[in-house]
Amino acid sequence: MFEALKPQAQDKILALIQMFRDDPRDGKIDLGVGVYKDATGLTPVMRAVKAAEKKLWEEEKTKTYTGLAGEPAFHAAMIDLILDGTVPHDRVAAVATPGGTGAVRQALELIRLASPHATVWISDPTWPNHPSIIRYLGMPMAEYRYFDAATRGLDFDGMMADLAKVKAGDVVLLHGCCHNPTGANPTPDQWARIADLLAEKGAVPLVDLAYQGFGDGLDEDAAATRLIAKRLPEVLIAASCSKNFGIYRERTGILLAVGDAAGKATVQANLAFLNRQNYSFPPDHGARLVTMILTDPSLRTMWKEELEEVRLNMLGLRRQLAEELRRLTNSDRFDFIANHRGMFSRIGATPEEVERLRVERGIYMVGDSRLNIAGLNAETVPLLARAIADIVA
Ligand code: LMR
Repeated sequence: MFEALKPQAQDKILALIQMFRDDPRDGKIDLGVGVYKDATGLTPVMRAVKAAEKKLWEEEKTKTYTGLAGEPAFHAAMIDLILDGTVPHDRVAAVATPGGTGAVRQALELIRLASPHATVWISDPTWPNHPSIIRYLGMPMAEYRYFDAATRGLDFDGMMADLAKVKAGDVVLLHGCCHNPTGANPTPDQWARIADLLAEKGAVPLVDLAYQGFGDGLDEDAAATRLIAKRLPEVLIAASCSKNFGIYRERTGILLAVGDAAGKATVQANLAFLNRQNYSFPPDHGARLVTMILTDPSLRTMWKEELEEVRLNMLGLRRQLAEELRRLTNSDRFDFIANHRGMFSRIGATPEEVERLRVERGIYMVGDSRLNIAGLNAETVPLLARAIADIVA
């Protein structure tokens, strides 16, 4: 039977990891996959995570199964982190998932179960795995405008014009903060208008929240999600702990389904059912660490402080890169890098220029010219700026 299989195109983001490893050059710079690196190029285990792991090793008595939807304590801690009381817990069904990708996948599967003909609207562009999973599940899909290639900012008018075409019951996938791949995000006022429009249309928002704490702060980055959860009767939220807890390989995520309290038990049963069909129990180690950190005041403080260091470091790198480019190009055309938020910025280079950056300078970024700011440090910023000024500007 295997001869019937067709070759699969490699995921473009993940392919870069291998290409980078295979490159023998000293001084190569990896700005591909979205992973945070400190000034020494290491993706560190966060201090609070190390402390929680030590405590867990000392105290954990069993590794028997958790609940099929994960541990209720993890649900409660994450609901509070994300929604902070905007919506009562009795309106929120929750399921632990293998990472944020698992949460997106389970969200889409839930939508397909409930409403197989609903169109899922995605931003143009979006994280490539979004359309990939939607297509794989055979769901109807449409795009809304998002990015203004000229300013490298948000095309808000285009976005609103396209979202005006959404039909009642359609799903609109939004990046709660730190848009991937562009780095361009709506302002709070624009978010309010988006929420009003979606409410008026009867749409169901699916918020992908993979970078809470990486943009403007833990609460600031959740503000749009909270606004939407408050404004709309039904909302899905797919959240990842990979980035903000630095536990990428532990595969820790959660899907929240906000609806009316009367329907919660049925939604909850469907979420558990989907886990059972796909992999039974979700991974527990990362979820348990996250729960410990969020519920222990001293671990929580330790985590928040380190997350803030990471966030401010990324902001500093953005400013440094924008300033270098201002100096080298004698123009403000790259100032958008300082205005973008999160790990990524799409810099607007052509695929040929991206290829030249890799071949001639050993600088790796995704083909659409998305660069991972968190892969830079004070020494590599000037090298990147020089390369962009020579090859792109
Ligand atoms: C990224 O976009 O680089 C990250 O979300 C990692 C991934 O899985 O693609």
